[in-house]
Amino acid sequence: MLLLFLLLFISFSQAIERDTITPAQPLTGNETLISSDGKFALGFFKPVNSNNSYVGLWYNKISERTIVWVANRKDPVTTSTGTLSISNNGSLLITDQNSTVVWSSGVANVTNPVAQLLNTGNLVVREDEGNDGNYAWQGFDYPTDTLIAGMKVGVDFVKGLNRTMTAWTSDSDPSPSQYYVTMDIHGDPELVLCAGSKKVYRTGPWNGYRYSGIPGTLTYAGFNFSFINNKQEITYSFNTNLSVLSKLTVNQSGIVQRSLWVEGSGIWNVIWYAPMDQCDNIEPCGPFAACNPNNSPVCDCIQGFTPKSPEKWFYRDASDGCVRKTQLDCKNGTDGFLVIPYTKLADTSNATVDTSLSLDECRTHCLKNCTCTAYAPADVRNGGSGCITWTNELRDIRVFTNSAYGQELYVRLAAADLGTATLQYFLSTICR
Ligand SMILES: *[C@@H]1O[C@H](CO)[C@@H](O)[C@H](O)[C@H]1NC(C)=O
Ligand SMILES: *[C@@H]1O[C@H](CO)[C@@H](O)[C@H](O)[C@H]1NC(C)=O
Ligand SMILES: *[C@@H]1O[C@H](CO)[C@@H](O)[C@H](O)[C@H]1NC(C)=O
Ligand SMILES: *[C@@H]1O[C@H](CO)[C@@H](O)[C@H](O)[C@H]1NC(C)=O
Ligand SMILES: *[C@@H]1O[C@H](CO)[C@@H](O)[C@H](O)[C@H]1NC(C)=O
Ligand SMILES: *[C@@H]1O[C@H](CO)[C@@H](O)[C@H](O)[C@H]1NC(C)=O
Ligand SMILES: *[C@@H]1O[C@H](CO)[C@@H](O)[C@H](O)[C@H]1NC(C)=O
Ligand SMILES: *[C@@H]1O[C@H](CO)[C@@H](O)[C@H](O)[C@H]1NC(C)=O
Ligand SMILES: *[C@@H]1O[C@H](CO)[C@@H](O)[C@H](O)[C@H]1NC(C)=O
Ligand SMILES: *[C@@H]1O[C@H](CO)[C@@H](O)[C@H](O)[C@H]1NC(C)=O
Ligand SMILES: *[C@@H]1O[C@H](CO)[C@@H](O)[C@H](O)[C@H]1NC(C)=O
Ligand SMILES: *[C@@H]1O[C@H](CO)[C@@H](O)[C@H](O)[C@H]1NC(C)=O
Repeated sequence: MLLLFLLLFISFSQAIERDTITPAQPLTGNETLISSDGKFALGFFKPVNSNNSYVGLWYNKISERTIVWVANRKDPVTTSTGTLSISNNGSLLITDQNSTVVWSSGVANVTNPVAQLLNTGNLVVREDEGNDGNYAWQGFDYPTDTLIAGMKVGVDFVKGLNRTMTAWTSDSDPSPSQYYVTMDIHGDPELVLCAGSKKVYRTGPWNGYRYSGIPGTLTYAGFNFSFINNKQEITYSFNTNLSVLSKLTVNQSGIVQRSLWVEGSGIWNVIWYAPMDQCDNIEPCGPFAACNPNNSPVCDCIQGFTPKSPEKWFYRDASDGCVRKTQLDCKNGTDGFLVIPYTKLADTSNATVDTSLSLDECRTHCLKNCTCTAYAPADVRNGGSGCITWTNELRDIRVFTNSAYGQELYVRLAAADLGTATLQYFLSTICR
């Protein structure tokens, strides 16, 4: 009796808690897939004030239902229930009550397909036998508005993927809005927030530890960040300790934010967001000026520069930026560099990156080239290495007042405009 009961119990609990879908066992109505460690759940949900159903992913063990991924964000089920199934050709299908296919993941190269919800929250399509980590399709390749641990945003040149995060249209409609976060691969790559075709915010390039424009990242406990920049991919992702739940989301107001789940209070605590202030906007100050939100006015010319249109500047219109007080003297070799210590690096769209150079070589390289107006290390770890060089104007510099933020930017100035503090960067000290 007991054995029979146990067997019944086991088969019953397997029937209600499973992490896979097979062609014979689709997911219908209010059934859910639960990852084997119980962390994630996947199933149909209806957004608030909506009669439409979507297949979504949420954390199974926290009190607030938090949808972090939606399969069919543009293609809802409008009948009362829906079904998520996998067909023999490897394609995930969402069908409505009338068996009309409303969404499909596309045909995958598998002979015995199963779909599985992994412990990471990734819904994958794979061969039933021999789970070797090669997935014919994976939900993580198509982020919705949220990056969770292990998910990547950015470009995969091999697979031809461009993973972006796009905000929901409204709380009752997960379809894509105008706000999205994408990897800008020009110059030194960085994440950019866009509103349609307009750039709204940039993080500043990755400097080995963090984005130069995002303060405080290093103080996050239990986090690992990964920025991969090679011929195969340019991607950003993070990982956390098992006990830490964190998400990076772009919301309907066009705000990117990182939140941490606080179990004790049952809330998502926002620990960082952007744009946060005037200086997070794109180019609030014009060329050769720097933005500092702690100053009033926030825009100031870099040392050695003076407002291009003094009258406009007086009325706090900084859009024309600043011009040199003293012209450079490249041929005579008397130019030097001013160090601006804690910057979100100037826009690198037109800059050149050479990761093979040391910081000393970078300085020499910049001094020799008369069109070079500034340089910075591409990677600030271990004293700095790699070389970013700018030509022409420097745009969209932000300065921080704390050494834990930003990174050093070396701006070329004529000797007359260099303060004594920066004399060590004269050419004479380089040509030993
Ligand atoms: C799932 O749906 C069935 C039938 O509609 C209903 O009886 C059951 O209570 C639902 N279960 C949950 C957990 O909502
Ligand atoms: C949902 O359906 C109910 C019943 O048909 C209807 O009264 C209600 O207006 C619908 N809600 C929305 C947001 O469409
Ligand atoms: C894959 O299978 C589904 C369900 O059988 C079908 O609707 C779809 O057309 C198939 N796709 C291809 C390309 O054969
Ligand atoms: C489903 O089928 C019924 C009956 O044929 C029809 O009235 C209804 O409009 C269909 N719904 C959808 C969403 O296609
Ligand atoms: C499909 O998968 C098989 C086995 O993994 C592989 O040999 C074959 O090249 C794949 N075909 C395509 C079109 O990717
Ligand atoms: C990726 O997609 C976004 C949004 O469509 C686009 O702005 C961006 O240029 C794309 N990036 C690449 C490398 O294609
Ligand atoms: C988890 O985070 C805590 C706090 O930062 C740290 O002490 C611990 O070593 C971390 N554990 C792992 C496995 O990373
Ligand atoms: C961070 O990465 C290291 C090395 O890859 C790994 O050993 C460690 O467990 C990771 N920690 C977290 C919190 O993911
Ligand atoms: C977006 O996030 C910001 C910052 O957390 C918040 O103030 C705003 O209300 C959010 N917008 C929506 C529509 O939730
Ligand atoms: C270079 O030095 C020479 C001799 O001192 C001087 O006449 C000339 O004006 C300098 N060139 C520039 C561009 O300052
Ligand atoms: C990059 O160069 C283009 C073409 O010269 C120019 O229109 C654009 O403003 C430059 N961008 C930056 C950030 O300097
Ligand atoms: C100076 O730098 C620019 C931009 O990187 C480059 O196009 C040019 O070839 C360089 N000139 C010399 C002499 O190296």
